[in-house]
Amino acid sequence: MEHDLQAVPRSAASVIRPAPVPKVRTLGVLTGGGDCPGLNPAIRAVVGRASQYGIGTIGIEEGWRGLVERLSRPLQYADVEEILPLGGTILGTSRTNPLKDEQSMQAVLRNIADLGLDAVVAIGGDDTLSVAAALTARGIKTVGIPKTMDNDIPLTDYSFGFDTAVTISVEAIERLRDTGRSHRRVMVLEVMGRYTGWVALWSGLAGGADWIAIPEVPLDLDEVCEHLKGLHGRGKRYAVVVTSESVDIPGLTGDGTGKDEFGHEELQKRGVGPFLADEIQRRTGFETRATVIGHVQRGGSPTVFDRILATRLGVAAADLIGQGVYGKMVALQKNEIVPVDLSALAGQQKRVPRDLYDMAKTFFR
Ligand code: F6P
Repeated sequence: MEHDLQAVPRSAASVIRPAPVPKVRTLGVLTGGGDCPGLNPAIRAVVGRASQYGIGTIGIEEGWRGLVERLSRPLQYADVEEILPLGGTILGTSRTNPLKDEQSMQAVLRNIADLGLDAVVAIGGDDTLSVAAALTARGIKTVGIPKTMDNDIPLTDYSFGFDTAVTISVEAIERLRDTGRSHRRVMVLEVMGRYTGWVALWSGLAGGADWIAIPEVPLDLDEVCEHLKGLHGRGKRYAVVVTSESVDIPGLTGDGTGKDEFGHEELQKRGVGPFLADEIQRRTGFETRATVIGHVQRGGSPTVFDRILATRLGVAAADLIGQGVYGKMVALQKNEIVPVDLSALAGQQKRVPRDLYDMAKTFFR
């Protein structure tokens, strides 16, 4: 017999099982840290799913700064219904760190109370989620959603923003290959990635780069240059090299400026790509050019993968709150969305394993 929903005696069912009164009536949602494609689909999912539990949503603007300075606006589903394909975040973001002083933390706690927030959903990377973990320790009902184009958040197989960023880099590699081939040049592409080489590795693998430099594996410039000379010797008169912005190269020093509230240096100022290009040209004699893709990777409409992942995570975060589970980050593990303890992240990064890099080296030939 087919399952017939019409046959369920709704009034009787509601007498036997009254709808549970949600412990949370209003949640606040914010986006913190560097933006990335997928934030808007995640916001939409949180608002949409929360409303099914009868939970209202207040959008906190400008990341944690919005809770320090009380910047907010109510969000109905109608406000977010059409933001699915939009890049960036409608709420704005910042790298404000309220953990830097107790006064800011007190302002956050006061504003959570004043805004009538029973829970907070923080969508962010390691920095934003570290604040969420600290708030949990202070008794705030908090759930985290991982986002970062760097893909370095532990305990989740992927974070949204990464797939879109890599897609943009692969397109850049293909364009660089065209012009590199025409001019018989080595084309160096510098991509983002603060601590890890996921973006560089995935972009280089998918784009067929001739070398990929990542911070997890020490760069041997002699090895790279010998390889490029070997290619040239075999008649391939051009090459594409992808490097992460955080690679260490002997002779290259960070300028140490532009630190944000979480103490992070502005890595683009290190100039890894241009430095590497100059070194390659000096050592090989091949004409070399550098391109820094930078924030182009962080804009634009999210890919299908990022839209779906952000939506699943947003729904799962609202589900946790609707079911009274807090202090968790929702994570993707083996294609399931699972809760993990926010406290388990503890400032760690998911690094590229050596065997994955060695697999990629198969194609440096
Ligand atoms: O963490 C994400 C990220 O895009 C890093 O890859 C990059 O180093 C950093 O943010 C850039 O930050 P900002 O937008 O503040 O310059």
